[in-house]
Amino acid sequence: MGTELEPNKVARARANLDTAGLADLVDIREGDALETLRDVGGDVDLLLIDGAFTLYLPVLRLVEPRLKPGAVILGENAFEPGYLDYVRNPANGYVSQPLPIDEGRGNEFTLRVA
Ligand SMILES: C[S@@+](CC[C@H](N)C(=O)[O-])C[C@H]1O[C@@H](n2cnc3c(N)ncnc32)[C@H](O)[C@@H]1O
Repeated sequence: MGTELEPNKVARARANLDTAGLADLVDIREGDALETLRDVGGDVDLLLIDGAFTLYLPVLRLVEPRLKPGAVILGENAFEPGYLDYVRNPANGYVSQPLPIDEGRGNEFTLRVA
């Protein structure tokens, strides 16, 4: 499942999935992620966050109850201090570190351990 605010990007993603023969396997939700992800419809074992920087932590907190133990969270361009402080604090149920590839891009690799 994926979610995107801009309708033209949603249309392009759906067209690409259709071309690849994967349209019936992927749910692309159009709208504000804080609405579209309220019910993700099941447990989550991989979450890629690559959207508005201020939404990284709110999106994570929204999906958090559905994250399976061992789930991977990839934050691309995860620069927002509130997000990084949260995932790097073991008390919140994560272990997290920056990925040592393409450094400067703020790629954060996080595991759900709770
Ligand atoms: C850096 S782009 C990356 C998108 C995608 N990964 C890509 O490579 O095209 C960030 C995306 O977040 C979307 N976005 C911004 N605010 C959003 C929101 N509240 N809900 C959902 N998507 C949002 C933007 O429309 C934009 O397409």
